[in-house]
Amino acid sequence: MCGIVGYIGHRDASSVVLEGLKKLEYRGYDSAGLALYDGEILKVTKTKGKVSALENKLQNSGNTDGSIGIGHTRWATHGVPNDENSHPHYSNSGELVIIHNGIIENYDSIRKELTKRGYQFKSDTDTEVLVNLIEEIQNKTNLKLGESVQLALKEVVGAYAIAVFDVKKPNEIVVAKLGSPLAIGIGTNEYFIGSDASPFLEYTNKAIYLEDGQVASIRLNKSIKIWEIDNNRPIPVLVQELKMSLEATEKGGYEHFMLKEIYEQPNAIKDTYRGRLLINEKLIKMAGVEENLERFTNADRIIIVACGTSWHAGLVAEYIIEDLTRIPVEVEYASEFRYRNPIITSKDVIIAISQSGETADTLAAIKLAKQNGAFVFGVCNVVGSTIARETNAGAYTHAGPEIGVASTKAFTTQITVLTLIALKLGLAKKTIDNNTFLRLISELNEIPEKLIKTLNCNNTALDIAKVYKNSTNCLFLGRGYNFPVALEGALKLKEISYIHAEGYPAAEMKHGPIALIDENMPIVVVAINKGHYEKTVSNIQEIKARKGKVIAIVTEGDITVKELADHVIEIPETLETLSPLLTTIPLQLFSYHTAVLLNKNVDQPRNLAKSVTVE
Ligand code: F6R
Repeated sequence: MCGIVGYIGHRDASSVVLEGLKKLEYRGYDSAGLALYDGEILKVTKTKGKVSALENKLQNSGNTDGSIGIGHTRWATHGVPNDENSHPHYSNSGELVIIHNGIIENYDSIRKELTKRGYQFKSDTDTEVLVNLIEEIQNKTNLKLGESVQLALKEVVGAYAIAVFDVKKPNEIVVAKLGSPLAIGIGTNEYFIGSDASPFLEYTNKAIYLEDGQVASIRLNKSIKIWEIDNNRPIPVLVQELKMSLEATEKGGYEHFMLKEIYEQPNAIKDTYRGRLLINEKLIKMAGVEENLERFTNADRIIIVACGTSWHAGLVAEYIIEDLTRIPVEVEYASEFRYRNPIITSKDVIIAISQSGETADTLAAIKLAKQNGAFVFGVCNVVGSTIARETNAGAYTHAGPEIGVASTKAFTTQITVLTLIALKLGLAKKTIDNNTFLRLISELNEIPEKLIKTLNCNNTALDIAKVYKNSTNCLFLGRGYNFPVALEGALKLKEISYIHAEGYPAAEMKHGPIALIDENMPIVVVAINKGHYEKTVSNIQEIKARKGKVIAIVTEGDITVKELADHVIEIPETLETLSPLLTTIPLQLFSYHTAVLLNKNVDQPRNLAKSVTVE
């Protein structure tokens, strides 16, 4: 996700902001920029690429003077990564300058209104729309910057952390936050801003964390003023003394990126359906699907191509799409598909799933499908990635950067996007009735809250990991929608703890794997109260009859499995269709803790790369 940095004070703002941006690089980004004001000229330098490229550009331009500055690392959401779309953005008068982390969902309608009133836009971003909206309000009302920002934010829908300054009053930076993080560092006669405290920890350990719905005016030699966007209520300023290390702040206080990303899933899922799942209007809006609705609804079949965890998300989608749309779905390893002379026709829709958007095999599968006239739809996390550009249309997952090599939040957000697509198509094809649609969207809307509850199993997962950390093998079983979850659970365990693990459909156990079961074999069974629960209970009995150790993922309130299993982890009640979004969580945590207990490098497991750009 984007990172924001700001400084106002007696130091050289360019080096404080630039060094701050380097501290935020861990968040992942595709472009960077900074704006400085030296009392005479506003200097904005920005570039696609790394902070080091920005540093070079800045040195070459000589635009380094200024005692007020704001900087940004951009993770593209609206508009591809390029110099123009990079932040900071400034208003048409060139007097207001802004950086923004988040998404303004209604930017298009605001942009159209501003365009009618003569505003012009250089970029495709929602942020440039916001800074011009602030300018328009300022011009109309003559209000101070803070109040103008406040009024503008009342008009926007979405999430943001912003920092704005006005070259006419260069002693002030106004910041505001809703949904994205923002910290203010307090020095002596100087203030700092950061997406977290890491950009300013070397200067001060005093910080204010802005809360959602608050705006603040930070003025040099004055105390900070904070108030609520909705009702002007002044907020007492609460300064915290930070005791964390730099590394800890980058990981948000978590020991590893993987754990942080596991915990980010409630928000990542919300970010993924925000602006698409319109619960009050009872509809799903997805431009990429709407514009190609006939391609989807007339498709003879959908072929999903992906690798690794993304392939597992594709398998979950197979169950969901077939169930809701009655369109036949095939799920292919991209690496097999591309080399096996597959039958592809122009009536096929190919869905390519990839977190990185750079996986070589998936890319090759897309090219092959396109050559054969199929319509290719991408589900990617990285905006502007090669796969996102190569596909005919697509939908981003908005999970934010996934740094841990083992995929976690990418998986659940991919399932979220694919569920939205299935629901939209199901309604369009009338293969689901309105009641089913409403039940599913309302439950999807509840998933982030249920996921927060599910995360409470963290300590139980740790306790279970302590018992089985020295096992040499582990089986994962699940049925229906939760069979791919079993595969994903096994992949997570083997890739970060190096314990051999296999995922199986529970009923397949008796066709081979049952021979492996003895008192040393831990078997994780997803046994929620939906689908073929009784049959899964029988599988558990078969395991217990052979002295295997059962770790069961059950629905809260379960009695039967609790009596049989050695350990249980409860998840909240949910619909079977959406259950993988919850059942996956305990398996991620179990793998994580096992690997940590074994002292493995959780975020960078041996031999693995985050983006597999080779065949
Ligand atoms: C496993 C994992 C990999 C990726 C696979 C595909 O935790 O991360 O299996 O899922 O390499 O990568 P993307 O989704 O970037 O195409």
